[in-house]
Amino acid sequence: MSEPILSARELGKRYRVRTRRFGRSRTLHAAEGITLDLHAGTVTAVVGESGSGKSTVSRLLARTTTPSEGTLLLDGVPVAGKPGRDYRARVQLVLQDPFASLNPVHDVRYILSRPLLIHGYGGPDLDASIRDLLRRVSLEPAEQFIDKYPHELSGGQRQRVAIARALAVRPSVLLADEPVSMLDVSIRLGVLNLLADLRDTDRLAILYVTHDIASARYLADTIVVMYAGEIVESGPATEVTDDPRHPYTRLLRSAAPDPHGRTERLGSRGTPPSLVTPPTGCRFHPRCPSAMPICAQRAPEAFDVGTGHTSACWLHAPAGAVPPTATEPAPAAVPAAVSASAPETSSEPESRPERDPQAPVAEDGGPMS
Ligand SMILES: Nc1ncnc2c1ncn2[C@@H]1O[C@H](COP(=O)(O)OP(=O)(O)OP(=O)(O)O)[C@@H](O)[C@H]1O
Ligand code: SF4
Ligand SMILES: [Mg+2]
Repeated sequence: MSEPILSARELGKRYRVRTRRFGRSRTLHAAEGITLDLHAGTVTAVVGESGSGKSTVSRLLARTTTPSEGTLLLDGVPVAGKPGRDYRARVQLVLQDPFASLNPVHDVRYILSRPLLIHGYGGPDLDASIRDLLRRVSLEPAEQFIDKYPHELSGGQRQRVAIARALAVRPSVLLADEPVSMLDVSIRLGVLNLLADLRDTDRLAILYVTHDIASARYLADTIVVMYAGEIVESGPATEVTDDPRHPYTRLLRSAAPDPHGRTERLGSRGTPPSLVTPPTGCRFHPRCPSAMPICAQRAPEAFDVGTGHTSACWLHAPAGAVPPTATEPAPAAVPAAVSASAPETSSEPESRPERDPQAPVAEDGGPMS
């Protein structure tokens, strides 16, 4: 495979938040140890439950959020400081809600002309360049759309305009954060197919953020599974979905919509932990049916479970990596089976983990998702 265009190495983001529960300011670990590579002509999906840190990862890669730790590399070169215009053009972010991201007072012509002109890609015939962008996102005939305002377009058409605007600056990387989750089910497939076309024809490196593992399998080449701010499994999309190795990925897959009605509710397996007081060791251990004593004590590293496939789980540690006594069945204090009433453990005795803090207040002024 070619060299990655964009790479994250141990990237992390912490926020100082105030919660009603604690009153004073605490640290929220939105993402930790994020290591991934985005290659030209591939789609990498980031999947996980709400609050697992998916959008934080896309914002870190877009550098709309400043990392608390770790390194970002573009074409192998570390990116430092505030991103310049070049970085912003190379790495484009497409958001979930196209209506919010398109200025309602401007028509499509204006929306697409701005990035073309600012970056000097307007060419001798600006209208022709705009029509070409519309053609690339299958809004044809272009004359039908070029004078429309966002409110005159359907959700799918608006998202296509948002993607066209991203394409205007000739990016190498497209970060698409839940690009279809606000669209009608009937038009989601069209937008996913558009992303697949851009991957294949334009050789874009695409990050596809979603909570829907089925759509990740459909679109992505590689899947990265996140839980409580950390990557727990990553690998080829078909392997991760058809033969998930990490217990959390198995849970996530069992909760995916099933035409035979066998879908399991994620909530019935407990809820994700607080990111202010995450569980010690493996963050999934309070919900994990396979938890062992070591799971609450030490965080597992990402162990190889196949070619390009890793699982951050002690079950997959090579022989000798785990002391034998550490794999005895878990004591009662660590729930061996998960239920809705299973208590969540905490790294801090003063507090039981809670769901994500109510109305967290970012002290670095960062945007809330
Ligand atoms: N600006 C911020 N200030 C404080 N906390 C934040 C901020 N942005 C995100 N968080 C917290 O970081 C955690 C991860 O948020 P993030 O938006 O990345 O999750 P997500 O996986 O994208 O969730 P969803 O699927 O609901 O979009 C959450 O607990 C969230 O409340
Ligand atoms: S490390 Fe332990 S608790 Fe975590 S997923 Fe693996 S078996 Fe479960
Ligand atoms: Mg999100």
